[in-house]
Parts: sequence; C-alpha cells; structure tokens
Amino acid sequence: MASLFPPLLLLAISLSIFLISPAQSQSCKSQKFPNNKLYANCSDLKVLTSYLHWTYNASNSSLSVAFTAPPAKSDGWVAWAINPTGTGMAGAQAFVAVRHSNGSITPRTYNISSYYSVVQSNLSFEFWDYSTEYSNGSITIFASVKVPEKKSLNHIWQVGPGINQTGFLIKHDFNQENLAAKGILELVSNSAGTAPTASPSPSPSSSPAPDTGNSTNSGKNGGVSLFGSRSSFGFSVASLLLVFVNLVAF
Ligand SMILES: *[C@@H]1O[C@H](CO)[C@@H](O)[C@H](O)[C@H]1NC(C)=O
Ligand SMILES: *[C@@H]1O[C@H](CO)[C@@H](O)[C@H](O)[C@H]1NC(C)=O
Ligand SMILES: *[C@@H]1O[C@H](CO)[C@@H](O)[C@H](O)[C@H]1NC(C)=O
Ligand SMILES: *[C@@H]1O[C@H](CO)[C@@H](O)[C@H](O)[C@H]1NC(C)=O
Ligand SMILES: *[C@@H]1O[C@H](CO)[C@@H](O)[C@H](O)[C@H]1NC(C)=O
Ligand SMILES: *[C@@H]1O[C@H](CO)[C@@H](O)[C@H](O)[C@H]1NC(C)=O
Ligand SMILES: *[C@@H]1O[C@H](CO)[C@@H](O)[C@H](O)[C@H]1NC(C)=O
Ligand SMILES: *[C@@H]1O[C@H](CO)[C@@H](O)[C@H](O)[C@H]1NC(C)=O
Ligand SMILES: *[C@@H]1O[C@H](CO)[C@@H](O)[C@H](O)[C@H]1NC(C)=O
Repeated sequence: MASLFPPLLLLAISLSIFLISPAQSQSCKSQKFPNNKLYANCSDLKVLTSYLHWTYNASNSSLSVAFTAPPAKSDGWVAWAINPTGTGMAGAQAFVAVRHSNGSITPRTYNISSYYSVVQSNLSFEFWDYSTEYSNGSITIFASVKVPEKKSLNHIWQVGPGINQTGFLIKHDFNQENLAAKGILELVSNSAGTAPTASPSPSPSSSPAPDTGNSTNSGKNGGVSLFGSRSSFGFSVASLLLVFVNLVAF
C-alpha cells in the first residue's frame, strides 16, 4: 500500500498542475450558466470585462450567443449587437438588457439607425429565445439569431449606466474601453490557430483516442480539447481525491 503512495501522489500533483494551466488562458472557458446552456465556442472580449459564448450552425446560418458583462451601474444596461452594414454603432442590431433598481431585467431590441436616434425597434433579422439573467454583478444576454451567410460578422458591445425617466437609454461613457468595444466574430475558424472550447463532436465523454495521423502537435491539441472547461474541474477533484485516499491509507 505505502509503496503506491509516492507515484500516485506525483501523478496527482502533475495532473493538477497540467490541468490548471491551460484553463487560465481564457476565463470564459470556466464560466457556466445557471440554465446549463452550453456553447461550442467562447471568447474573452478585449474590453469592458465582457465574454461571448456562441454556437454557429452553418446549415441554417443560425447563431446562438450568450453575452456577459457587468453594467456600468447595478441598475444599468448591457448591449450586444451585430452590425450587418458597418463596424460601429450606426446600423447595429442590438440586444439591450436593462436592469431596474428592483432587480428585474427587461430585454429590449434596438435597430440603431444613427447615433442620434437610439429608440427601441425590431431588428432587421429574425431572432428567437431571447432572455436575460443576472448573476454575480453581471448581466447575460441569451439570444439566437439568423445571420447573413458569411464566415464572420461585425459585432459590438457596450455597457451603460441606466435609463432616464422616460425610459430612454442613458449614454455610455466615452472612455477608451467603450470606444474599443467592437470586433470581428469569426463564425468559421479560418485555420487551426484559434483556440477551441470544450471537446467537439467525437465522443466527448470517453478517454481521448490517440487521435489522427498528425503526431506533431497532437499532444497540445489533445490537451486543450480534453481539458477545456468542463472536464478540468472533475479531473482536479479526482486528483485531489487520490491524494486524500492515499493520505488516509498512509
Ligand atoms: C443545424 O441546423 C440544421 C437545420 O435546422 C439542423 O438539422 C441541425 O441539427 C443543426 N445542428 C446542430 C448542431 O444543432
Ligand atoms: C436552426 O437550427 C437550430 C438548431 O437546430 C434551431 O434551433 C433553429 O430553430 C434553426 N433556425 C432556423 C431559422 O431555422
Ligand atoms: C421592477 O421595476 C420595473 C421598472 O420600474 C417594472 O417595470 C417592473 O414591473 C418591476 N418588477 C417587479 C417585479 O416589481
Ligand atoms: C416587431 O415584430 C413583431 C412580430 O414580427 C411585431 O408584432 C411587433 O409589432 C414589431 N414591433 C415593432 C416595434 O416594430
Ligand atoms: C432598421 O432600420 C433601418 C434603417 O433605419 C431600416 O431601413 C429598417 O427597415 C429597420 N428594420 C426594422 C426591422 O425596423
Ligand atoms: C464574481 O465576480 C468577481 C468579480 O468580477 C470574480 O472575481 C468572481 O470570481 C466571480 N465569482 C463567481 C462565482 O463567478
Ligand atoms: C430621456 O432621454 C431622451 C433621449 O435622449 C430625451 O429625449 C428625453 O427628454 C429624456 N427624458 C428625461 C426625463 O430626461
Ligand atoms: C468552434 O468550436 C468548434 C467545436 O469545438 C470548432 O470546430 C470550431 O473550429 C470553433 N470555431 C472557431 C471560430 O473557433
Ligand atoms: C496533417 O497536418 C497537415 C498540415 O497541418 C494537413 O495538411 C494534413 O491534412 C493533416 N493530416 C491529417 C491526417 O490530419
């Protein structure tokens, strides 16, 4: 019994170290939603402490997203938008979640025709399953949208302080972060370079088969996909448990 201790402990420790490091590169990978929705891809957006999780279905060009950000004030708003015609606010098709002081959240849509006319209106594309959630200081917008059949799209995001007495959105700050809150969302990965999220379609549950013929970087790829988001916690617990069992046996 005792002779098993050192190798198992070593294994447990090395597993834990190995498992913790890749998870830290992207915070979004460890995020979970209270409604247990899962998305194929996620990204730590570059500003405003915002995160986007998404699943793109190319066969009907539908995109499901979960956008998470802390509003500028606790009864403020957060927005995520697709801009089919430009890169900025003008033309954006926006999902805006407004949190009230009583804690309830109202999901709204804005077809932002110009900077000077930000009024609630329908979007120029089909959308469904639009809901919102508040957790730990952040609002999450869930939505599914029918997007143009393109490999990428322009998206923008924003956070603001609230609504005025007549219900209009109060303007967001114009800090560098706010102005930089836009980017290109790659729906279809252009190469193997982009970091994938959780394990893809082939048998996510069982242990990884020593994959394709390409041995050069299979170790790295296998590591990322196997130990992405969901499995890492389980594995760490398992290794801690191993340590514990060994200590007891000892
Ligand atoms: C993608 O959409 C098509 C058409 O609606 C559907 O048959 C398919 O199951 C969808 N794929 C996924 C992964 O949801
Ligand atoms: C596309 O496919 C998804 C997944 O199967 C489905 O939920 C959605 O309703 C479909 N959307 C359209 C516009 O057909
Ligand atoms: C919370 O406040 C908003 C805005 O004043 C109001 O529309 C909503 O009905 C309120 N919700 C509850 C549960 O009181
Ligand atoms: C938005 O679209 C829905 C259904 O298509 C319609 O019932 C509603 O009146 C529209 N709202 C606005 C503000 O155009
Ligand atoms: C959105 O706004 C644009 C520009 O004002 C307009 O052409 C379009 O019809 C609007 N779409 C909807 C669904 O209101
Ligand atoms: C809650 O938010 C804080 C600050 O953003 C973060 O440090 C913490 O990890 C979050 N906790 C959970 C359970 O998500
Ligand atoms: C709320 O904002 C709108 C748009 O900026 C403005 O027209 C309106 O006068 C404001 N209402 C109040 C009560 O300040
Ligand atoms: C999204 O995730 C899927 C499945 O993990 C992966 O095949 C795809 O390359 C990812 N897309 C992007 C743009 O990263
Ligand atoms: C191995 O990788 C090369 C270059 O990345 C690619 O062209 C080739 O198709 C891959 N082969 C297999 C079996 O995946």
